[in-house]
Amino acid sequence: METLISITNLSFAYGQRVVFKDFSFGFSSGQRTGLVGSNGCGKSTLLQLIMGLLKPSAGEIELFGKPRRTEKEFREARLQIGFVFQDANDQLFCPTVGDDLAFGPLNMGKTMEEAEAIVDGTLELLNLSAFKDRVTYNLSDGEKKLVALGTALAMRPRMLILDEPTTCLDEEACDRIAKVLLACGLPYLVVAHDRSFLDRVVTGSVRLKDGRVIAEPPRESNGRPGSQAA
Ligand SMILES: Nc1ncnc2c1ncn2[C@@H]1O[C@H](COP(=O)(O)OP(=O)(O)OP(=O)(O)O)[C@@H](O)[C@H]1O
Ligand SMILES: [Mg+2]
Repeated sequence: METLISITNLSFAYGQRVVFKDFSFGFSSGQRTGLVGSNGCGKSTLLQLIMGLLKPSAGEIELFGKPRRTEKEFREARLQIGFVFQDANDQLFCPTVGDDLAFGPLNMGKTMEEAEAIVDGTLELLNLSAFKDRVTYNLSDGEKKLVALGTALAMRPRMLILDEPTTCLDEEACDRIAKVLLACGLPYLVVAHDRSFLDRVVTGSVRLKDGRVIAEPPRESNGRPGSQAA
């Protein structure tokens, strides 16, 4: 197993609001981990620190085996991570769904034809082919969530980081996301409040509480064994 994320002795505060102090965390290939915790405990903050979108005041973040400090180092890592923001509006900024999905591949040097093939394949996977020419701005919140996952997958990343990918989604869309995640073959770290969704898609969960992560015990539901330890 390869260590994909290694965080040591990290500290971070929004002004006076300390979210992490001396925080450490690790994540390896082969893991499909749920990140749970109460509202405001720092889940989204942690994901944004990993992505280099927020800067820690102390500590070290290693991604794919290399320390990441400068913007250039984080950018190189970001290209290999499919990230789904908690708010899809932070993620989608192109006029149409097709443009939004093509943005990552084109940015990584794919030709128009290659990007087009990735876009079509990804839309099909998410059952969104009919949405290709829709104006992103006009989509419903649930539709935007699915498109946001599409933009992450279209990057052909080495891992996924997903911040509440199922919020606003109906049962059928949740089911599709669960199937796509299980079939994608990638390691992922996923924040979700929906335990039944998590039980389906993760191999284990950790709980963020008081600025620390603790292994979440497996949950028994309907006599079915819960998730195993992360
Ligand atoms: N830009 C900001 N400025 C000041 N405080 C912030 C900012 N963003 C988040 N916080 C605070 O930092 C703490 C952690 O927020 P964060 O969004 O990481 O929580 P979360 O675990 O993702 O919560 P949720 O489950 O509601 O999404 C919260 O107390 C929040 O109010
Ligand atoms: Mg959050």
